[in-house]
Order: sequence, then structure tokens, then C-alpha cells
Amino acid sequence: MSDVRVLERGQAVDGDVAVPGDKSLTHRAILLGALAEGASHIEGALDADDTRSSAAAARAVGAQVDWPAGGAATVVGRGAIGLQEPADVVDCGNSGTTLRLLMGIASGIPDGLTVLTGDRSLRGRPMRRVVEPLRQLGADAWTRAGGSPPVAVRGGRVRGGRVQTGVPSAQVKSALLLAGLLGHGPVTVTEELATRDHTERMLALMGAAIQRDGLVSTVQPGPLAPLTYRIPADPSAAAMWWVLAALTGGRISTRGVLLNPARAGVLEVLRQAGALVEVELEQQVPEPVGRVVVTGAGPLRSIRLTPAAVPGLVDEVPLVALLATQARGTSHLEGLSELRVKETDRLHAVAVGLTALGAHVAEHADALVIEGPTRLRGTALDSLGDHRLAFTWAIAASVADGPITLAGASAVSVSYPGFWDTLAETGGVVAHHGPSEE
Ligand code: S3P
Repeated sequence: MSDVRVLERGQAVDGDVAVPGDKSLTHRAILLGALAEGASHIEGALDADDTRSSAAAARAVGAQVDWPAGGAATVVGRGAIGLQEPADVVDCGNSGTTLRLLMGIASGIPDGLTVLTGDRSLRGRPMRRVVEPLRQLGADAWTRAGGSPPVAVRGGRVRGGRVQTGVPSAQVKSALLLAGLLGHGPVTVTEELATRDHTERMLALMGAAIQRDGLVSTVQPGPLAPLTYRIPADPSAAAMWWVLAALTGGRISTRGVLLNPARAGVLEVLRQAGALVEVELEQQVPEPVGRVVVTGAGPLRSIRLTPAAVPGLVDEVPLVALLATQARGTSHLEGLSELRVKETDRLHAVAVGLTALGAHVAEHADALVIEGPTRLRGTALDSLGDHRLAFTWAIAASVADGPITLAGASAVSVSYPGFWDTLAETGGVVAHHGPSEE
């Protein structure tokens, strides 16, 4: 089937959207389930390429994972002692979360050698950010000469200690905390900016001795009890529908959405831009969850994003940049250097794509400055295999005057296989399959 979609402006959206389970929580529930002693039951797990990579990785280190397509997952672990050296190189596909969290887990497999790799995109991503602090804790961990995967970890050497993450990354922080959980002494991790704390919350829920004090988390080595968990809807997936409502002057309602403050930053941006955002909290622990209704209300205002706010919406920045093209005035999005090391150099790819759509965008080393509002035009774009770019270019079609031809459309399966169906249901964009490839 063709990997090209032709996308055209539809109507102002109005309705409820069912959003799939959170990707970050699904990864963690599967991988932490593999460390527990007994059967963990995970409902509402996101069934997508990335989270299937975590399931395969959990199996590779000895867990039993029973996960029928689209259904609940059961992960049976045998505790830290039951972890096994993988029989082969573990392929983490496109998933940075799988690979980085596995590095922490691998450091706790006594004498086991774990070699981790991934697809072409993942093999270009930086891993010294994990290897260096892991080594400070005593681990025996290696990257290729340039710092990218494959990576290798020889387990059983983590003494414990105090480390800094160096970059604002929940993946790095989580890898270090897992190394501590499975190591010989407590590990204290300090981060510069607050990133998502799902690992800390889930470890506490599973009975680990973990304390958090602002930017500092300390974990003691110890066992984990199995988990019974319902994964809330993914705010990074909901964000595209919220932005679609704001762009089209429509209204979208989403239920059961994860509202962890370290994830919900895009709601603040939508408010800043002038959209009406209503939040009704339905649950507070182990993670805040609620209903969110976003209504586009009149002309959009420019956006200012500071570096401290970026971890709270790091995956939504491409959508925020798109929103900024439709806002009156100059939007400053700052502190974006981490976007350069995502599945693609997203900072550059967003600047190039928005410019091709006719927007006024200046790309800086770690910032985007966007002048708006601009009428966008139709053009040919490519996801470059990056799911977040595929979503953004699809949503852009809701405000473009001509059709957007999107190559690499199948990248959505990394985190949101039902994306095209849901897009069609909203009516905000009309999508057709492009011409078949030879
Ligand atoms: C994630 C953390 C973020 C985010 C990614 C998922 C996680 O990456 O971009 O999609 O689940 O911990 P970094 O840790 O590299 O910032």
C-alpha cells in the first residue's frame, strides 16, 4: 500500500475523541512488570510499534508477556533474580524509551551481556547521556565511538551513588533509577529541570523505597510487587486533537487523559494562545487523570515558551509551532535543543516544513521564532519516519489552503496506529491514500 497520504482541509471539528493509552506509562508498566515478582495486569496499554518493542525487550530479559492485539497485557516477572541475559542482540526498533530504560535494567543482570540496537533513526541517537552516569554508578556500559547504539552493558556492577542527568531527560533519569533499584547501593539522581516522574510514581506504587524532593530522586535496591494498572489516555496523542480544535475554531472533548503536570504543558500553551480549555479532574493517584475540553475561541495570540516549560510538552513542540503560525504576533519558543536529538532533528524539520507551508519561521540553535498569522499553502512534506512530524503535517492540513501531500505517512504506527481513522472521524482533515508506489 502507498505510504503517501493527500490531506485536505475539512470542517471545524466538534465532538468527543477516544484517545489511546499513554506511551510513556505503557513502556514503564511493561518494563517494571518484568522486574516484579509475579503477574502484572495492564489495561488500556497503548498497542503501537514502540510499546511492542518494550514487550519484546521484556521477553528478551526473561519475562513472560501475554498481550493480545489491542487487549490487556499480562507481564509475569520472576523478580530481579529471574532476569536473564538476552540470547541475542535486542532490537528496540524506533523506541528510545525502550533502549534507554533497558540500559538501566541490563546493568542489573549479574554478569549478563546485553547488547541493544534499533532502527536507523535510533542508531543515530545519543546514548552517552546514559552510559556516562551509569559508569559513575559503577556500571560497565559502552556505546559506539560516536556515542550512538548499538550499546552494550555487562550487568551486576552497580555500586550506587549520586549522579546528575546532565540533560533534561526522563529516559536518562529512569535508566539511572532502575540501575539503582537493581544495584548494590542507593542511587540519587538530580536533574536540572523537572521531567516526567512516571517511573518514580510507578516504582512507589510497586513498593520500591523511592523518595523525591524537588529535582532529586533517591531509590534503594529492593524488590517490586506486581502491578495492577489502568493506563490513562496519552496527553501527547490528545494534544493533536486539542490543537485541531484551536486551529479550526471547533471543539474537542477527551476523557480519561493523563494530566501529570510534567506532561500537560500544552494545555497552558493553548490557554496562552486564547483557546478555551476546561479540565475536570477524575482521579489524582497514582497519576492525575481527567476530562479535557478545548474550544477554539476567536483569533489566536502569540506564544512564549521558556526552557523550563519545555520538558512538560517536549513531544508537542511541533504542534505548538504549527499553532504559532496561526497566532497574531511573534511567538518565541526557547530551550528546544533536545528536539535536535529526537527521532529526527525535529527543530530543523519543523522549521523546514513550516517554511514550505508558507509560514515565517526563524530557526536558531535552540529556538524557533515564528511570525503570524500566515495563511498556509498546500505543499509536499515528508515525515522523515518521525511520527510526531507525521501528526503535525496532517493537522496542518486543517488550515492549509491547498492539499498537503505527506510521504512517510505510516510513521504514525510508532505511537498511534489508529491516527488516520480518528482524523477521519473528526472531519477536520480529509485524507486520501496517495498514488501507489512502484
Ligand atoms: C519519554 C521522555 C522524553 C519523550 C519521549 C518519552 C519517556 O524523551 O520525548 O517521547 O517516556 O520517558 P527524553 O527523555 O529524551 O526527553
